[in-house]
Amino acid sequence: MAMTLNIGSLKLNKWQLALIVGTPLAIGLGTYAIKRWTSAPGGKETDGAKKQNDQKRGKGKIEKQALSIDGTAPDSELEKNKKSAELGEELTPLKEANNYKTEGNNCYRNGKYDEAIKFYDKAIEKCPKEHRTDMAIFYQNRAAAYEVLKKWSNVKEDCTAALEYNPRYAKAYYRRARAHDATKNMLECLDDVTATCILEMFQNNNTIMFADRVLKETGRVAAEKGMRTRVPVVPSACFVNTYMRSFIADPLQSIQLPSKSESDAPLKGFLRARQCFINEQFDDIIPACTEEIESSEAEAQYKVEALLMRGTFHLLCGSYTESKQDFDAILSNADADPTLRAYAYMKRAALFIQLDEREKGLADFEEAERLKPDNADVYHQRAQILLLLEQIEPALVEFSKAVRLAPNHAIALVQQCYAEYRLSLLVGDQRRLEAVMHAFEQAIERFPDCVECYSLMAQVLADQQQFPQAQQYYQKAMKLAPNNPALIVHQAIMMLQWRGDIEVAVKLLNQAIEVDPKCELAYETLGTVEVQRANLKKAVELFEKALLYAKSQAELVHVYSLHNAAVAQINVTKKLGIDMSSVSAMVHSGAMPQGM
Ligand SMILES: *[C@@H]1O[C@H](CO)[C@@H](O)[C@H](O)[C@H]1NC(C)=O
Ligand SMILES: *[C@@H]1O[C@H](CO)[C@@H](O)[C@H](O)[C@H]1NC(C)=O
Repeated sequence: MAMTLNIGSLKLNKWQLALIVGTPLAIGLGTYAIKRWTSAPGGKETDGAKKQNDQKRGKGKIEKQALSIDGTAPDSELEKNKKSAELGEELTPLKEANNYKTEGNNCYRNGKYDEAIKFYDKAIEKCPKEHRTDMAIFYQNRAAAYEVLKKWSNVKEDCTAALEYNPRYAKAYYRRARAHDATKNMLECLDDVTATCILEMFQNNNTIMFADRVLKETGRVAAEKGMRTRVPVVPSACFVNTYMRSFIADPLQSIQLPSKSESDAPLKGFLRARQCFINEQFDDIIPACTEEIESSEAEAQYKVEALLMRGTFHLLCGSYTESKQDFDAILSNADADPTLRAYAYMKRAALFIQLDEREKGLADFEEAERLKPDNADVYHQRAQILLLLEQIEPALVEFSKAVRLAPNHAIALVQQCYAEYRLSLLVGDQRRLEAVMHAFEQAIERFPDCVECYSLMAQVLADQQQFPQAQQYYQKAMKLAPNNPALIVHQAIMMLQWRGDIEVAVKLLNQAIEVDPKCELAYETLGTVEVQRANLKKAVELFEKALLYAKSQAELVHVYSLHNAAVAQINVTKKLGIDMSSVSAMVHSGAMPQGM
């Protein structure tokens, strides 16, 4: 179904993205797992179904060769009819109309499109309207000729007419989809290409690829608008803490609050922000920082710190313009503390990567390194970003620099193991794979309190289909971080991969939403499951929730694509009077590849 394809082709961006926002690497890996889960069963076709599919595919080919006009092909019929005319037999209006069509098809094949249109005009005029299938074909064929001439409004009109006569005419939907594509009416295009997919039972790769492109395009358009209108949301405590823990030498996190006895006055400005941070009152941080930044008092000694903290929170909330302004303010101040400047560079780098400005992001890392060549965070943050850009080898180099500088940085160490795992898989080196599994075990032994060690180990095991072992590690991780929604989502995904257990997965996903009602990934994953179960309305609601908590443009593109795919399926199934669960059941019985 549409959603599954979507996952296959879009999810990777998503998992890459999750990493940048500072979400634990783990979240990203979860979506990687979804991709596996949905694409794996694709190969399984029953013999019977395969034969049927092959036949369908074969038919598809012939249709394409016939230049996408419909009709009894050869001239034999025309000849026959002419002969009977010569014999003085009466031509029925239907036969006459079909003769015009055949003439039209001949013109079409010979590239005489204007003449073809005139013959189709006559066919339409002659044909008794109760011959609905024929009428549909004449209109569809005329639309084909208009299409070559790029007369898009004529194409749309004729396809619409064809569909009035034959509402299940896949080819007419497909052609009208292309006309909508040409005129950039992407939502209409999406509805039509979705109708084509459903009528073709998701068997035609070309249609599916077209649908995928259209989905991304509608997602992109909606996300651009969505970015401008979205309301920033302060993420959950778990999210913020996980992000913060990925920095081992963050100067902001080591600033001590004055001891209580020193003063009874409530804290102000940056120190208040710091206190709010410690107390996990994240909503109050930005205003407290602003108080410091706008203060004219001489004692406002933490202005740069306040800018860095406010910029960081704007980044976490997805307010990029505000975030960049704060980092820019630090970076244009040459007198600011070099360490704070280095962190401003690192965080602005992440921001640039989120906005898909890779060069600028990598340049900022160079600057950070120039300022603080011995800071482990520079290398670790850059390693994470390289990994999500799929530059696994360079990422590994950076991870090992970080680990060398900060041997007790558990997260960097276990992420290094993960990158090493990815590379070993990529090059197919079994020895290296065994070594990395051993390295994982050692990391866990050294850092038994690090959630990431268990969760990454679990994901790697799940990736190798060692589900019972993976589950054990998830359970250990859950003991350390019972309120981490990402961990719960991962387990849900694993239950789908492992046992195809939708009930348990849904239960877990609802549990993830309960512990973190702002968990975009949980809503999105649950929405995807509901699409698989043909609960399209429920899915749309969940995707709308996910949109509230999506942070970056890329995330919005992805969720809007999922959302629009579900809406289009609702539109189309209503229009066609098809029950989507019947199509869905076929997908899940393995009778058809899960292309879409
Ligand atoms: C359709 O695409 C899938 C995956 O890309 C491929 O395995 C399959 O052979 C394709 N089928 C046809 C008929 O092109
Ligand atoms: C689905 O139908 C609604 C209401 O008619 C329409 O606004 C929308 O554009 C259609 N398609 C999609 C993909 O949203």
